[in-house]
Order: sequence, then structure tokens, then C-alpha cells
Amino acid sequence: MSKKILVIGSSGQIGTELVEGLRARFGSENVVASDIKEPQVKQDGPFAMVNAMDQRGIERVIEKHGITEVYLLAALLSATAEKDPAFAWKLNMESLLIILELAREGKLKKVYWPSSIAVFGPTTPKDNTPQQTVTEPSTVYGISKLAGEGWCRYYNKRYGVDVRSIRYPGLIGWKSAPGGGTTDYAVHIFHEVMKSGAYTSFLGPKSTLPMMYMPDAIRATIDLMEAPSEQVKERGSYNLAGLSFSPEEIAVELRKHYPDFKMGYAPDERQAYADSWPRSIDDSAARKDWGWRPEFDLKAMVDDMVLHLRKKLS
Ligand code: SER
Repeated sequence: MSKKILVIGSSGQIGTELVEGLRARFGSENVVASDIKEPQVKQDGPFAMVNAMDQRGIERVIEKHGITEVYLLAALLSATAEKDPAFAWKLNMESLLIILELAREGKLKKVYWPSSIAVFGPTTPKDNTPQQTVTEPSTVYGISKLAGEGWCRYYNKRYGVDVRSIRYPGLIGWKSAPGGGTTDYAVHIFHEVMKSGAYTSFLGPKSTLPMMYMPDAIRATIDLMEAPSEQVKERGSYNLAGLSFSPEEIAVELRKHYPDFKMGYAPDERQAYADSWPRSIDDSAARKDWGWRPEFDLKAMVDDMVLHLRKKLS
């Protein structure tokens, strides 16, 4: 049976770029995109309008297209989830359990589900945060991701479900808009510098957070899913590091392209979420198990973002 992929939550920040990456690698007709929202950018290839919590609807799409692998990206992120914790828990957990159950029943060969640096909390060591460490998240988003990691590990151990996961840091890209996270400032800042030459950050100047440029994140995701099963030793979720910077540091880098750029600060409730997360991540397990290496540092990321976003916006 050949590979047929379903991406659930394909219209979001990661989905938009992941669908493109998967289609380039495996062919447009072999990747079905699905969401409750229309795609952010026009994509060529099949699209299904379906809710990630609609078990029958998801099953119908899987049967209709002969799906063998699911990438489940639908979720509420940190800031949006805090506005409706009960719904965030429901969406983030129900969608995962539907897919894990389908895999247990043998209807899927492989599952990808993203976790996050939000599984860490104020009691976690902040620098070079290890793969195995204290996880006492303070956001409902983090609680749901930590519980999800537990479910992935359980379905793998108990039922042999081939599920794989990455704890994404903040993701930065020019092709799609982020949706409701604490790290979104690092995307907004590029749009604002180009539109108005000024940006007011909702995180303070020294809030260093782990981040990653989208091409690295997409490559990591597909590489992890394509790695031989025996190399994937961590079945909760892998730490993954790209770069780490603060609002103040990215402003310095942006001024190399826009010398008059004005940066202001007005921290809001998202500051507390950022304060509870690590500054940098130890990803040696991902490096050792399936050969992960990031390509973009801060300068390379900013140079590439500016180049592409400028073109896109003009
Ligand atoms: N980018 C996410 C957020 O800020 C972290 O996983 O919510």
C-alpha cells in the first residue's frame, strides 16, 4: 500500500507549510489537507472540510482517500487556550484520542502529533532544558500537551502504535500567519517593521525563548516521520532546538536591515506564559536518535525572512 497522508489543521501556521513540504516530497495527490477553515494560501491538491473532533467525519476522510498516515495539528495554542480552558482541553485531547484509537484499530500506520516547549513550567531548569526533566506546566495548553505526550507513549507501549512527536519551540515563517501563541510576536515583528517601521512587543525586552525557523521545523517533522521506527526511541515527544533570542536581540538583528526600526514594549498576560518557559533546549536525543541538525541561526533566519516577506508584501 502506498503512502497517503492526511494533515488535520492544515490551514494553520504549521499546516500551511507542512502541506506544501509533504506535497513537494510525496506528490500533491498523496497529501490530503483538512481543516474547519479555508487554506491561508491557495494549494493544489485535495482538501476536506472536517472538524478534528468529528470522529465519523475524520473516519470518512480516511476511508475515502485510503489514508495511511495522519499529521494532527489542530489545537488551541497558549494564549487562545487561556481564554477558554475547557474547550482547549476538549479540542486538544479529543482530537488526539480519536486518531490514536484509529491507529490502534489498525486503520493508520503512523501518526504525527506536535507537543511544545509549553510542557515545561516555572520549576523546570531554564537553560539547556533536558529531554527528561521537571514538567509542571502553568498553562492549559501546556497541561494538554503534557497529557498528550503521556497518551502517545501509552498507545505506543501498550498497542504498538507508531506515533512520533516534537516539542516545537516558537515557530517563525513568512508563508503563514501564527494563531494565538505567546511566541507570535517573533512573526508579527517582521510584518510591522515592513509596514510601519515600528513594533510594540507584548513580551518584555529580555524574554529569551527557544525559537525555530519554519524550514528547519518542517524538515525536522518529515525527517522524524521518515526515520526507521527503531531509531525513534522517545515516544512521548522530542526536545528540539533551533535558536534562542529575546525581543531586544531580534530588534538588533532587524536594525541591520531597517536602521530606523523603533521597538517598544507593553507586556501583557502572555509575559507570564513566556516567563514559565525555558530559555534554551537540549536536543541531544533528537540529534543522536534520528540525526537532527538545525540550519538557521538568528542572523540566517532574519536575513531569509526579510528577503522573502519583503517580496511577498510588495
Ligand atoms: N508557539 C506556542 C505558543 O506560543 C508554543 O508552543 O503557544
